[in-house]
Amino acid sequence: MSVADVQNRQWRKFDPYIVPVDKNAVENILRPLDLSDDDYHTVMQSMLDQMERGLGAATNDTAPIKMYPTYVRAVPDGTESGEFLALDLGGTNFRVLLVTLKGQEVKMDSKIFLIPQHIMLGSGKHLFDHIAECIYRFVKEHNLMERKLPLGFTFSFPCRQKGLARAMLTTWTKGFKCEGVEGHDIVALLHEAITRRGDLNVECLAVINDTVGALMSCAHTDRKCAVGIILGTGSNACYIEKLEKVEMAEGNEPGPPEMLINTEWGAFGDDGSLDFITTDFDRQVDKHSINAGKQRYEKFISGMYMGEIVRLALEKLRKNGLLFGGEGSYHMATRGRFYTKYVSEVESDDTDSFPMTKQIFQELEIETVTDQDCRLVRHVCALVSRRAAFLSSAGVACILNKMKRPEVTVAVDGSLYRFHPHFHDLMMEKTRVLAPGIRYKFMLSEDGSGKGAALVAAVANRILAEQKAKGNPETSSAV
Ligand code: GLC
Repeated sequence: MSVADVQNRQWRKFDPYIVPVDKNAVENILRPLDLSDDDYHTVMQSMLDQMERGLGAATNDTAPIKMYPTYVRAVPDGTESGEFLALDLGGTNFRVLLVTLKGQEVKMDSKIFLIPQHIMLGSGKHLFDHIAECIYRFVKEHNLMERKLPLGFTFSFPCRQKGLARAMLTTWTKGFKCEGVEGHDIVALLHEAITRRGDLNVECLAVINDTVGALMSCAHTDRKCAVGIILGTGSNACYIEKLEKVEMAEGNEPGPPEMLINTEWGAFGDDGSLDFITTDFDRQVDKHSINAGKQRYEKFISGMYMGEIVRLALEKLRKNGLLFGGEGSYHMATRGRFYTKYVSEVESDDTDSFPMTKQIFQELEIETVTDQDCRLVRHVCALVSRRAAFLSSAGVACILNKMKRPEVTVAVDGSLYRFHPHFHDLMMEKTRVLAPGIRYKFMLSEDGSGKGAALVAAVANRILAEQKAKGNPETSSAV
């Protein structure tokens, strides 16, 4: 087979009609985004290695994947009941929820509050005062002022936990950078803000990561659920580990011989182990982020960065005269302006006339966009999202192979997974190749951050009540 044949086959894999002006030039620019199964296997091997190091007490310090113990020992048994407040902080929105659990029945009432940029980048005190103010408004609106409800907090950032309700933020991710929070217990900061107001009667009983929320919420109905992943603004995974392997957990509470581990896999590659697949586009994304050198795996995959990788690739093609006849625009030259939601829209578009794609570039003020341009844009989007989906599969497969359970349900949440037209199918396809012999399914988690936090708070509250009944003097208040 000639080189040209191989290239043609490569192109046809994506779009049989694509005929770029200069195929070789386009190929040269985009080739680094197309990884092989050998690459994915190397990624998995190195991830496994870093995960084992993260679990070990002697190696955790220098391991990029921190494998944080969550102190969540049991998945729900479906008998949890009661009313709970839940908080959900992890992206640009903050939510307060009232969750009513009654066996398999779950009722939720929630309100979304925006976290303005100046708070995301301001002081920690300001952030927690804002959170307390939102709780107050919610509690007041729902006539809950007179009641003391247990509260679960889904805080989706890396935390070194010392118990269910003690969580030190290690480092901000995903565009947050509030001063005075890193290294501090976020439950204490929340309680201080509540005390400062003096008009709220709530106590936080548990802090969980959003991956844990997704897992708990799916496990509530599916007992095989043992992994939770988020593919949204950020990316992360948690899974059920044997307690004897969790060397970093403190204390020795009675309970099942298992613990959920928040892997914080987003930090995979921070030691350079993913440099071999890193393209110039990825390097630029990292360089201009507010946490350069950090969260390298997350930056290949998640919604916060994917659109920007595509924009950089499109700009490179354009500057080489291979796209839009070389015509650029202020918007296309602006960092972060090509949103990840555009990637999903382009890939969902009708390939006869590309109405959505043309609309997007009209918004971005590119005057002349031919069908041929649209095909090439679609090809770039497909390459970037395929790489993201396959890298996520490599992560999932690494965990599945490590767990060695014959059948596992993987809970998934996040806007990227929900709204991208092919992410699920791509992940199914590649996980099959990378975790042969394991039966798995991906289950969309419905509002895991709210339901999961309530479920964990329910379990924590039950344990507190039991301890109180036994007259344990160290017990604080079961609510
Ligand atoms: C980031 C956070 C992590 C979270 C993920 C998904 O990676 O560090 O805690 O789970 O985003 O929201």
